[in-house]
This record gives sequence, structure tokens and C-alpha cells, in this order.
Amino acid sequence: MKKLVKVISLLMAVMLITGMLAACSGKTGGKAGKVDVGIVLPTKDEPRWVQDEQRFKDALKGSDYTTEILFSQGSSAKEKENVETLINKGIKVLIICPQDGDAAAAAVEAAKKEKITVISYDRLITHTDAVDYYVTFDSVAVGAAQAQYLIDHVKGKDMPLYLYAGAASDNNAFLFFQGAWSVLQPKIADGTFKVANSSAAEGLKEKQELSREELSKILGQVTTNWDANDAKNKAQTHLTAASAALKGDVAVLAPNDGTARSIADVFASDGDIKSYVVTGQDAEKASIQYVIDGKQSMTVFKDVRTLVKDAMGMAVTILDGKKPETTGTYDNGKIKVNAKQTDVIIVDKENVKKELIDSDYYKASDFKGL
Ligand code: BGC
Repeated sequence: MKKLVKVISLLMAVMLITGMLAACSGKTGGKAGKVDVGIVLPTKDEPRWVQDEQRFKDALKGSDYTTEILFSQGSSAKEKENVETLINKGIKVLIICPQDGDAAAAAVEAAKKEKITVISYDRLITHTDAVDYYVTFDSVAVGAAQAQYLIDHVKGKDMPLYLYAGAASDNNAFLFFQGAWSVLQPKIADGTFKVANSSAAEGLKEKQELSREELSKILGQVTTNWDANDAKNKAQTHLTAASAALKGDVAVLAPNDGTARSIADVFASDGDIKSYVVTGQDAEKASIQYVIDGKQSMTVFKDVRTLVKDAMGMAVTILDGKKPETTGTYDNGKIKVNAKQTDVIIVDKENVKKELIDSDYYKASDFKGL
């Protein structure tokens, strides 16, 4: 019996040492190329995020800290994998723009376990306490500015209003729509606009403030999923179904530039649409050309240089062992996240040169007919 105990304990000791060796070598391999700040962006398929990558690279030139940028390509599983890769490279700070606000909770909880500071970038990660900071534009103001632009360009009464929204998996889609609704609702209620493509919005037209559930109902009908093709198909379906009374001169709330261009193309090709005013967001180069050409009415310029500067500034403050400054909080459904917020600028034909060329955001030679 004693012998058996001895053999077993010897075996266990051998297993323990082998295990430790394996763990060690795994870690050494994983740590090759140490990274201080990990950055995870949602997709390379939209110019918006490719631009953020470039702005990060520009901002990081000459920095003392090492960073690595990974893209999730529209997949929450890939996003989690990216976070794990960065954790294995020893990051101290994670800057992450989630593909899906709820689904990203698991990824940042894994980072938190390793004492990594998590900064939610542009989009809020929701329903988790594993977010330390949020760096964002004023997204409610984006929607409000789009709505105000439509109101300022409305002609007469009963103008058909086509509503579109972003992906319901993105908390920003709610903030944009909430901002737009707060400005549009009184003008829908008083008959300046009539909603052309959402029975849910029509049913709620007397309500100034919508709950998350009510917003969800509208988004369910008018979401583009942040996808230009989805947006195009929806717009085509809506125009095919629309009666003559819902055509003529119309207003279109399009949530961002990618969807605005495809929606605008559909409206432009409908013989019964006499004119349309259409919003956008992001100041994508292709949309700036559309604005110059009169095919898209406006865009909301969000200076990504500022967002990147704020996010990296925060990361460096944290790496230096200090506490970053914030300007307010955002409720993510679980906690109030300390946030730093940046203003947005409305751009149309009138001020496009001043805001985007004179500010060195883009080069004049990037456009025709400026
Ligand atoms: C961003 C927008 C972007 C959209 C689609 C939003 O969360 O704030 O700038 O156009 O996602 O990617």
C-alpha cells in the first residue's frame, strides 16, 4: 500500500513539472512581440473604420508605447479571438470598438480578468461592468443634426419622410435615432412630415420620448444593419410599395454615409421622386463627392483625429499610472461608464471646403468640382 502511494505521488510530481514546463514555454511563445495597447476595430469593409486605423497609425508615429490594431470583420467570435491574442501579447490597455455591443461583453470580461483597462471606442459595450472608460462622439447630437437638416429643408406640409436606422446590435444606432426622433417627432405630430415607411413610427408619433423597446420596434422595421446592400433593398421595397402621395418631394433620414449613398441612388432612379433631401454621417470621401455633386444633401463630420487623440491620450495616462479625465457618463445597462465626448460638425455644400479641406482633413485633389 505504502509503495502504491509513493508511486502515485512520484507520478503526480512528474505530471506537475511537465505541466509547468509546458505552460511556461506556451507563455514565452505567446509573449513574443510585447504590446502595450491593443486596438480592436469592427470591420475593414467600411471606410469609416479603415480611416480610424489610419488615424491611429498617424497618431502613433514616434510614440514610446507599442500598439497593435486588429479587425474583427463583422464577427463577434473573431473579435473575442483578437482580444485573446492581444491579452497573450501582454497588453495593459485595450481600446475596442465592438461589432456587437452585447456580445463583446465576454471579450472584455476576459481582458478584465487579466487586469487590463478597457476603453470602449465610439460604440459602447453594453450590459457588463468590465468597461472602464468610453471615448465617443456626441451620438445623440448626430441624429438631432440630421433631423434638423431635414426640417430646415422641408417644403410645405405633409412631406413624405422615409426613416432608416443603423444596426440594432450597435448602441449608437439607438442614440442616433433617439436624437433624430426628439427633433422630428413634433414635426411629424403637427403634419409637416408624414412617415412613409414605418407603421411603428407612425403609431408612436405623439410620443416625444421613446423607450428602448419602442425604439427597437421602429429599428426593427427600418434598420439597414449598417449594410449598404440591405439599405438599398429596403429603399427599393419601400418605394415599390409607396403610393403616389408618398412620392414627389421627399425627406430621407439615412443614418450614415455608406447607407445614404445607396439609398440616395435608389431615390434618384425613381421617376416619381421629384426631389429628395437625404442625411448622412462620417464625411466619407465618396459621400463628400456626393455632397459636391448634389446627390447627398449633408453629412455629419466626426473628426476621427480627435477621437483617436482622446483614446490614445487616455491609454497613455493609464500606462503612466494616472487617472484619465472624463466629461460625463453613459449608462451601459449595467453600470455608468465614465466617458469623454466630442462634438460633431454638420457639413453640406456650403461649408464642405472650410470644414474638410481647410482643416487638412482631406486634400482638395481628392475631389472633383470642389
Ligand atoms: C459609428 C458610425 C458608423 C456606423 C457603421 C457607428 O457606430 O458611430 O460612424 O458609420 O457605426 O459602421
